[in-house]
Amino acid sequence: MEIKEYVALRKEELKKEIAAMARKPKLVIVKANENPASASYVKGKMKDAAEIGADAELLELSSSISEEDLLKKVDELNNDPTVDGFIVQLPLPRHIDEEKVKLAVNPKKDVDGFHALTTFLPCTPKGIVDYLAANDFKFAGKNAVILGRSNIVGKPLARILSSKGYDCNVTLLHSRTSEEDKAFYLAHADLIIAAVGKIGVLDASYKYKEDAVIVDVGINRGEDGLLHGDALPNLPVRLQTPVPGGVGLLTRISLMENLVLATKNK
Ligand code: GUN
Repeated sequence: MEIKEYVALRKEELKKEIAAMARKPKLVIVKANENPASASYVKGKMKDAAEIGADAELLELSSSISEEDLLKKVDELNNDPTVDGFIVQLPLPRHIDEEKVKLAVNPKKDVDGFHALTTFLPCTPKGIVDYLAANDFKFAGKNAVILGRSNIVGKPLARILSSKGYDCNVTLLHSRTSEEDKAFYLAHADLIIAAVGKIGVLDASYKYKEDAVIVDVGINRGEDGLLHGDALPNLPVRLQTPVPGGVGLLTRISLMENLVLATKNK
C-alpha cells in the first residue's frame, strides 16, 4: 500500500475514534524558531488535526525568547487541563538547551515521544515501523541498516527495531563509517533507513538486495529548488519511499495517533 493511501485510511479511523469520544483531543504546537522547514511541518500538523476533528492551537513565540520563559510556557501547558498533548517544534534557537526543554514536558503529554520517560514512541520511527507492519514487512531476523544517528530518528529507530517484537539485526552507520563498510552493510541489508539529511547518501553505485526496502527520511532542498530525499530516485530495490509525500506524512499521522492515545489515557 502506498504511503498516501495508508495515511488516508489511518485518518479515517482516527476521525471515527474521535467522533465517538466524549471530548475532542486538544494539541498545542509551540514554535519558537524561524525555520522554513518547521513552518511547513507545523502547517501540515495543523491541517491533519483539523481533518481528524481534533483541536489544534499554534503558539508562536519569538525566536529570541529566553530558555527560562520557554520553560515557563512548557510548565503552563503541563498544568493546563484542557491540553491533552503538546509539542515543541525543533530545532530550537541555539541559546536554548533542547534536552532541557524535552525533559520539561510532562511525559503524559509528550506526544512527540521525546522525553526519556515517555510512554509514546517518537513520531518518525513509529510512523515507519507502523507503515512497514501494515504492509506485512516481516521484521524478525532481518538486517536493518540505518544511516544517520540523530536523536529523533536514527537512535530511537535502532532501539525500536532491535527490541523484542521487531527483532531485527540492526547496524547504525554514521559520518565516521568508511565507504568500504557502508557498501558492505548496504549489500546485506533487507531494510535501509536513510536519515542523514544529504542528497545522494544512497545511489546506484551501491549494490542492493533486489528485495530490499529503502525508507527515505531525508527532506533536502536541492539546487533546483525542489525537495529531494537522501536517496536518489528509482534505485533497484523492491520498495523505495518517495520524497516528498513519504515519511513526512507518516510522522504526522503518528503525532495524531499519539494525541488520541494521550487523550484516552488521561
Ligand atoms: N523537527 C523535525 N521533526 C520533528 C518532530 O517530529 N517533532 C518536533 N517537535 N520537531 C521536529
